[in-house]
Amino acid sequence: MIGTTIDIAAAYLRAGEVVGIPTETVYGLACNALNPFAITKVFEVKERPFFDPLIIHVKDTDQINLYAELENDLLIKLAKEQMPGPLTLLLKKKDIIPDLITAGSEKVAIRIPSHPLAQKLLSQLDFPLAAPSANPFGYISPTTAKHVDQQLGNKIPYILDGGECAVGIESTIVGMEGDILVVYRKGGLSLDHLYQYTDNIRVNETSTSKPDAPGMLLSHYAPNCPIVIVKNWNEANINEQRGGFLTFNEKVESIENCTNVNLSITGDYHEAARNLFAALRHLDSLNLNVIYTKLLPEENLGIAINDRLRRAAVK
Ligand code: TXA
Ligand code: MG
Repeated sequence: MIGTTIDIAAAYLRAGEVVGIPTETVYGLACNALNPFAITKVFEVKERPFFDPLIIHVKDTDQINLYAELENDLLIKLAKEQMPGPLTLLLKKKDIIPDLITAGSEKVAIRIPSHPLAQKLLSQLDFPLAAPSANPFGYISPTTAKHVDQQLGNKIPYILDGGECAVGIESTIVGMEGDILVVYRKGGLSLDHLYQYTDNIRVNETSTSKPDAPGMLLSHYAPNCPIVIVKNWNEANINEQRGGFLTFNEKVESIENCTNVNLSITGDYHEAARNLFAALRHLDSLNLNVIYTKLLPEENLGIAINDRLRRAAVK
C-alpha cells in the first residue's frame, strides 16, 4: 500500500517489518538496522546476496557517533558540511551494529538523508534504518513510490510516498584509507565537491562483489532490454523498428521519428540525474529490442550518470 502517513510507516518499522521510504537520492527498502530478523527480510524482499552490505540511515551527526567511529578530521568536516545529503561515510563500526548489516566487515556505511519525510520518520524512531535501494537486486533503482510499488508492492506492507526524488541517483560513498579519501561509489555528490576538501582522492573504478572492497557489481541498474552505448549516433541502427534512444541535451535529427527520451534538453546535469532511472524504466516498459545511448561529458554529475549507464549496459 502507498501512503503518506509517517505514523503507519513507523509502526511497521517498530514491528520489524520492511517499508519503502523516500530519500532525496532514491527510494529505500527500510528496516530496523538493529534487528537481525528485520534485516534478513530486506535481503529476502530484494533477493540480494548476503555478501552485499547495507547502508544505515540516521537523523544527524550525533547519531553517527552512536553506531560508528567518526574521528578523522576530513570526514568530520564532510559530515558537518555535506550531511544531510547524498553522501555516505564508510566508518569503523561499533559493536551494536549487527554483522549482517556489514556482511562481516569492520566498517559500516552511514548516511543522513535530507528528505523531509525521511527526517521526520527517523526522529520518531529510536533505532537507525538500514535501507538498500528499493529495487530487486541488479535492476534500476526507484525514484518514485510507484516504481517501488510496481516491483515490490506485493512483498511489503507499506510504501511512504515522498514524491519524486530530488537527486535521483544514489549517494556518493567515501572513506579514508590512510590519508587518502577513497570514493567507493560515484553518486549524487559530485567529485568536484570532494576536491574542494582535498586533492588526495582515489576514485575506485573497479567494481567488485567483495564486501572488503565496496562498490557495486559490474552489472547493475540494468533494464531487461539491452542497452548499447554508441560513440556516434550513426552507429545506431535507426531502421530498427523497436529501438529506443536515451539522449542528453543533443537534438539528433536522424532519430526524430524514433522513441527518444531526453534527460535534459538544457544540458543540466542535476535534471539529467533526476530523470535517469525513470527514463530507463520507461524505455524498458516499451518492449523495445534495444536502447541506444551515448555517454555524457565526464564532468559534474555526468561522471556518476555514466557510471550507471556503463553498468546498465553490461549483460
Ligand atoms: O543513496 C543511497 O545510498 C541509497 C538510499 C536508499 O540511501 N541506498 C543505496 O543502497 O544505494 P544500496 O544497498 O543499493 O547500495 C549500497 C552500496 C552497495 O554497493 C554496498 O556494497 C555498499 O554500498 N556498502 C554498504 N555497506 C558497506 C560496507 N560496510 N562496506 C562496503 N561497502 C558497503
Ligand atoms: Mg542499489
